[in-house]
Amino acid sequence: MTDTALTPPLAVLLELTHRCPLRCAYCSNPLALTPASAELSTAEWCAILDEAAEMGMLQVHFSGGEPMARADLPELVAHASRVGLYSNLITSGVLLNEAKLAVLAEAGLNHVQLSFQGLDEAVAEPLSGFKGGVAKKQAALDLVQAAGLALTLNFVITRQNAHELDAMLSYAEEHGIARVEVANTQYYGWGLQNRAALIPSEAQLDAMTALVTDWRERVKGRMVIDYVIPDYYARRPKACMGGWAQRFLNVMPDGTLLPCHAAQTLTHLDFPRFPASTLNAAWFDSPAFAAYRGTAWMPEPCSGCDNKEKDWGGCRCQALALAGDANTLDPVCEHSPKHEHVVTLARREAQLGDVPLQLRRFSYAVTEE
Ligand code: FES
Repeated sequence: MTDTALTPPLAVLLELTHRCPLRCAYCSNPLALTPASAELSTAEWCAILDEAAEMGMLQVHFSGGEPMARADLPELVAHASRVGLYSNLITSGVLLNEAKLAVLAEAGLNHVQLSFQGLDEAVAEPLSGFKGGVAKKQAALDLVQAAGLALTLNFVITRQNAHELDAMLSYAEEHGIARVEVANTQYYGWGLQNRAALIPSEAQLDAMTALVTDWRERVKGRMVIDYVIPDYYARRPKACMGGWAQRFLNVMPDGTLLPCHAAQTLTHLDFPRFPASTLNAAWFDSPAFAAYRGTAWMPEPCSGCDNKEKDWGGCRCQALALAGDANTLDPVCEHSPKHEHVVTLARREAQLGDVPLQLRRFSYAVTEE
């Protein structure tokens, strides 16, 4: 990719806060969370929305942590709407109630992405550390549908709940959901520590793949199913974030500007921070954003690979986490010398059975305001 081909991002993902009422074992946020005292102010988030719109971005994703833990969320949604950004709320749903949803809808919220850790409380609660979450999420789904907002269901899959996939898809179908994500956990941040406890077996994966194939056929034209497998069992890497610094710009709770949510682990790069840096300067001028953009940085055999402009070399954060070097091949790729090691690791961990889950620990409770 040359500089002349560089266009603004399609979307900005605002991680408004790391605070969350859930304590998910698979949480992909970093080990060291941003404290509430370091979060950007309402005015600063609004300034980021202004700039995103000025740059020509089309969408804003409000994420976290739990974005509903921010009392100013309706104000931010209203601001996004004013500046013409399509807004998506990525939420666990457990802090949602009728009054709060009415305020968000009135503010102009366009879309909700609601996550589930399963439909059986006995399965979901140990994964999320939140009692009564399934009932709250089901109530949230009803509210979002009653409000007429666009809705995507996100089923987070691990070895503990993979057997529920058929029930999950039936639930989505019964509720007339148009878009479902079957998202096997990817192992970043806190979740990486729990990988041995969470990763499904290849037999579970094969069963899921067959099920999704059947379901896609059955619900064609009514329900779209996005299916993400655990990277470790793939033979070719994913185009992480659609290519490093090509489509998305992430803003951390403290204003750090990143090309992906895990990039802070790449400590050899100096990522800019808002408001000291504008979004525009970060995107177009920052050496950290340029580091792995396009194909010029690629080692062999990536640089000679036919897929290099499809997978963009895979995931840099994973290359660092699994191969110890962000500049090398994503070990998920079958051409990586580390590939066999990664697959063997996954197979071995998947057979470990009941490994205790380490839930996130917060020094404070996040509750309904
Ligand atoms: Fe950072 Fe994939 S998560 S490049």
